[in-house]
Amino acid sequence: MSKINDQAFQKLISFCKSKGFIFPSSEIYGGLAGVYDYGHYGAILKNNIRDSWMRHMIQLRNDVYLLDSAIFMHPTTWVASGHVESFDDPQVECRKCHNRMRADHLLESFGISADKATIEFINTELDKLKEEKKLKCVSCGSSDITPAKKFSLMVKSNFGSPTDALSEENVVYLRPETCGGIYLQYKNTVDSLHPSFPFGIAQVGKAFRNEIAARQFIFRTREFEQMEMQYFLHPDTMKENYENWKVVRMQWYLSNGIPESKLQWYKHERLAHYASEAYDIKYDFNSIGLDEVEGIHARGNWDLSQHSNHSGVDLSYFDSKKNEKFIPHILETSVGLNRLVLMFLDFAYTEEKVGDDERIVLKLPKHLAPIKVAVFPLLKNKPVLVSKALEIFNQLKNDFMCEFDDNGNVGKRYRRQDEIGTPYCVTVDFDTVEKDGAVTVRDRDTMIQERVKISDLNSYISNRLK
Ligand code: GAP
Repeated sequence: MSKINDQAFQKLISFCKSKGFIFPSSEIYGGLAGVYDYGHYGAILKNNIRDSWMRHMIQLRNDVYLLDSAIFMHPTTWVASGHVESFDDPQVECRKCHNRMRADHLLESFGISADKATIEFINTELDKLKEEKKLKCVSCGSSDITPAKKFSLMVKSNFGSPTDALSEENVVYLRPETCGGIYLQYKNTVDSLHPSFPFGIAQVGKAFRNEIAARQFIFRTREFEQMEMQYFLHPDTMKENYENWKVVRMQWYLSNGIPESKLQWYKHERLAHYASEAYDIKYDFNSIGLDEVEGIHARGNWDLSQHSNHSGVDLSYFDSKKNEKFIPHILETSVGLNRLVLMFLDFAYTEEKVGDDERIVLKLPKHLAPIKVAVFPLLKNKPVLVSKALEIFNQLKNDFMCEFDDNGNVGKRYRRQDEIGTPYCVTVDFDTVEKDGAVTVRDRDTMIQERVKISDLNSYISNRLK
């Protein structure tokens, strides 16, 4: 875990709240730790990021199919996948203030790599730090800290009549990752769509984890969205497909305006027992430092074998050309949508000098900006300008997410639109209605203003958003 620039981070968090991007959940009741809500601009930004991922992963390919599976699944799903038994993180607790901490993160703050380490390794390392009197609670500073123990991340619920006693028989889990639904619908997808190998199934949806220390704003939350793709293949082709997908996924970040210098590959040395390769894409956050945004994993045939064994349903594939039957191996790409929202906001948030003035501008890639065009009448109290501006707003809204704004003066409106990242502002003035049938279009980044004919406005903007 890298060092946090707390000042920059707090500024970004309060910006997100005050500008209607992201709110703490249930704030009027004191909040709910590790859960956030998305306001108007945040929700649209999140959808735009999702759409870009869907376009890249599905629309621009002919080998990946979409799935939207339910959050609840048969509870055996999570027994078969190993989650019920061992989806846990090592937890320590401060005996003084009862703050609970991720033991592996605590060790990492001392430069000790503890990713997927055993509980024995973690406790040995913690004991050494205790002897050296270095181990302290991150909240109150006490050195009275418990040994690490495993803490399940599974979030449980119950089906059945509300009067039934909560029992193990009717327990259901809120899925901790979206890929479980993909494995369970692998057979129906093959039987209904008859894809040729290799092929992928992708889905976007909610996942839930009872994180020990949900922290860092929307970086690690208890309810979040994942965008995952499972690519089913013959094991002989894993290596070449893995390399291809690494390129494909890195390209997505670059094509969305994140520079190469902000991105890094991280190779996992300790792997889950079924995995043969695992790389993360890390992004260098201005606020929280270098950290994981996406994982690309070679998962072997563990998933389909396990579900086959537990369900009794044969999930092998028969390749009639090679006359060969095999259980497909899986290559996974998995990214947190909320984490990407944080990445783009962190990247785009800019404070800059404009003459003697300062402005905050969200330099989001234009195609991801929540609002694409804002339309203003130069003066609010001139009905002729207001009605023309409304007419233009109605002309543009069919093609773009637009806003009509007649509050304050034009300068203030520009600042407000800069803050939410709107690429273009259109102003209707007296020349528009009396002379040239054109409007002033102002670019968010260059602040250059151009005169554009109303009849050309839609194509002018759409060409620049591409
Ligand atoms: N199916 C594989 C899987 O779930 P993971 O590394 O646990 O792998 C993949 O999660 C991605 O999901 C992470 O890289 C991260 O972007 C996102 N993610 C995981 N836990 C999260 C959490 N608690 N809050 C927000 N995003 C999370």
